[in-house]
Amino acid sequence: MYFSEKIINWYKKNGRKLPWRETKNPYYILVSEFMLQQTKVSLKTIKCYLNFIKKFPNLKKLAQAEEKDVLKEWEGLGYYTRAIHLHFFAKKLKNKPIDFFPKKYKDLIQYKGIGPYTGAAIASICFNEVIPAIDGNAYRVFSRYIGIYHDITLSVSNNKFRIYISKMIDHNFPGLFNQAIMDLGSILCTPKKAKCFLCPVKRSCFSFKNGTVYKFPVKNNRKKKPILGRFFYYIFICNYHKKLCLNKRLSKDIWKGLYDFPLIESKKKLTENEIRENVWKKFQLIYNNVIYQIRHKLTHQILSIQFLNCEITQNFSKNIFLEKFIFIPYGKICEYPFPSPILLFLKHEKMI
Ligand code: ADE
Repeated sequence: MYFSEKIINWYKKNGRKLPWRETKNPYYILVSEFMLQQTKVSLKTIKCYLNFIKKFPNLKKLAQAEEKDVLKEWEGLGYYTRAIHLHFFAKKLKNKPIDFFPKKYKDLIQYKGIGPYTGAAIASICFNEVIPAIDGNAYRVFSRYIGIYHDITLSVSNNKFRIYISKMIDHNFPGLFNQAIMDLGSILCTPKKAKCFLCPVKRSCFSFKNGTVYKFPVKNNRKKKPILGRFFYYIFICNYHKKLCLNKRLSKDIWKGLYDFPLIESKKKLTENEIRENVWKKFQLIYNNVIYQIRHKLTHQILSIQFLNCEITQNFSKNIFLEKFIFIPYGKICEYPFPSPILLFLKHEKMI
């Protein structure tokens, strides 16, 4: 039996039963592949996927939605530009004939947010295009199986892997093949504690035979540890009508399109006095105390976040420093999409 037959047979018996695997509807596959970029399958991603397709059951419904509502369904998943790109894709296809969907890998990757991996996954799963989907799992499985010493952190390696995998991909069932590799990589051929004894292709595996399983994949460019580099001081303030002051994040920075609070940001930790001075200078508010603090890890950075209980001295409408913010009644808070540290704070305050 060929490599591809063995892994497809194994996948049919042992692969994960996931909701997006019960369909070939390109819209559902598109949503699942966007959600799974830089993200592992978990109960959270499954729940988010099911809620998302329930709320936006097709491209047209997604195209008609407000960005805020799309982001709300993405809440907690992180990497929110994925949701913005997915929404953008739906809006771009809005004026095409009904049921139109780009079917070829080369057309799919023209859209923002659809990279080589996502394009190949969609084209192979939905449209049977013979094209390998190469993610971290594929790098691990094939580097171990073949004994490929190319450094996977270098972009030139992608082409080298593509050549090897193209020779092995199943020409009749490329979608099943790609998904079998994903599952082999996440169930058996794992970074640590690989379960080689259960592997359907162990007898022809270079690394199993040579004891080199943990030498692969080669990564010379070790990831840098994230550093504590940004200090956020959030102004928590509500007016007498029980309205909460929110800020919509518009810049290219993290969390674009999500909501947070008026913010004082610094590259270094501020003293109590510096916080007090800044709160007054920037917002003409009085700082009382820190209500909640948290550290939030991003890919390259750690944020230190404090939530400040603040007071206003004059009437709200007279505070021109708060003009660019919005005031939301408590009852409507759950309609807005928030980054996870803000959600944690709102839960801590029992506001959601
Ligand atoms: N990761 C990326 N795409 C996936 C898929 N279709 N199934 C499981 N994990 C994935």
